[in-house]
Amino acid sequence: MKVLVVGGGGREHAIIWKLSQSPKIKKLYCAPGNPGIARLAECVSIAVSDIEKLADFAKRENIDITFVGPEEPLSKGIVNEFNKQGLTVYGPSKEAAQIEGSKAFAKELMRKYHIPTAKYAAFTDYEEALSYVRAEGAPIVIKADGLAAGKGVVVAREVEEAEEALKSMLKKDTFGSAGARVVVEEFLEGEELTLLSFVSGTTVKPMVPAQDHKPVFNDDKGPNTGGMGTYAPLPHIDSSIVERILQEIVEPTARAMVNEGHPFEGILYTGLMLTKAGPKVIEYNARFGDPETQVVLPLLETDLLDILIASLNGELEKLEVKWTDKSAICVIMSSAGYPGPYKKGDIIKGLEQVEYPAIVFHAGTTEKDNQIRTNGGRVLGITAIGDNLKEARDLAYQSIDKISFAGAHFRTDIGSKAFH
Ligand code: AMP
Ligand code: GLY
Repeated sequence: MKVLVVGGGGREHAIIWKLSQSPKIKKLYCAPGNPGIARLAECVSIAVSDIEKLADFAKRENIDITFVGPEEPLSKGIVNEFNKQGLTVYGPSKEAAQIEGSKAFAKELMRKYHIPTAKYAAFTDYEEALSYVRAEGAPIVIKADGLAAGKGVVVAREVEEAEEALKSMLKKDTFGSAGARVVVEEFLEGEELTLLSFVSGTTVKPMVPAQDHKPVFNDDKGPNTGGMGTYAPLPHIDSSIVERILQEIVEPTARAMVNEGHPFEGILYTGLMLTKAGPKVIEYNARFGDPETQVVLPLLETDLLDILIASLNGELEKLEVKWTDKSAICVIMSSAGYPGPYKKGDIIKGLEQVEYPAIVFHAGTTEKDNQIRTNGGRVLGITAIGDNLKEARDLAYQSIDKISFAGAHFRTDIGSKAFH
């Protein structure tokens, strides 16, 4: 089979890494890919948002299955367009992808189907939002409605901070059209967990639970990023919680999407807070998480391609999805300054010294003059696999010590919540 993966970050590197182990795949392509991916797949220089060119490429190369990594092309309707042209593509339709693309859509779905989540209200008017926030008090959470690369969320500890966020989203237009509407949410207290699932209509096959670390600095200090590190599974959290999340949240969500006429076909990312009153949804994404994928896929025993084929044939229910009992951790190495402005083009050294069971997933890199250089905020994800989390963590940090670039930053406490 010939498979095309759309995307070019650490998540797509992990997807390609897993797919490259499938004996059924004759040729792997990635658009646009990155220098790490280029060792496993042929990279084609087409942007993830250029749906027309991607479809032309898939047709010309007789691609059997296209897998879509990022949210942007999904929200833009890549699946609808490929289907219209008779091309096989794995991922949710534009309508189903609204579960990520519009927080208001997701919130309304949860309200209608009694899926536990934080209390919320949506506003387009600054004055109305302001009086709601003043009445509710802090802590309170302000979110831009629409895609803002994980950075459109402000967890305000004080009312003044919430007011600033409202001002910047509704008055200054910081997030472009994504900020034209805000969702104001009740602050949820507890531990966070990501549960990724393969979803096909009402069938849900959960993956191993993972935990992300969003703030840029140790001890969850500093601004939120796309994610600074992950680990899976979560040894300190009772595994019965996954069953409860499935029954109370993910399965009802899948049924709700079918009921609404937008059956979800693809990877459903459920971001949860484990509150005293039980698990509650923080957000849904219509795709694999980044960097959750970099710890979840290395633990998957089943051939990922078999899962995609079964789903596309409407037979996911019958497939047994198997996981190893090992642990994985991923530590992100980022450019100094991220999530604010950062420099690009610095030479990265030591990559070739890292060996399995540690894996270097490239996120923001480029190759110039035969040298791998930094080219993004999140530069690399160093994943390590071990018999337990401690072993995996030790190997991940030993591997990081072998890699260097100017201004490299990483959190030194990834996974530490599991050891408290
Ligand atoms: P999101 O982009 O919606 O995942 O939000 C980014 C981060 O903000 C989450 O990972 C949480 O750490 C935090 N967050 C979002 N919503 C809430 C909430 N209602 N209560 C507490 N923290 C939240
Ligand atoms: N790691 C968070 C996300 O992928 O949205």
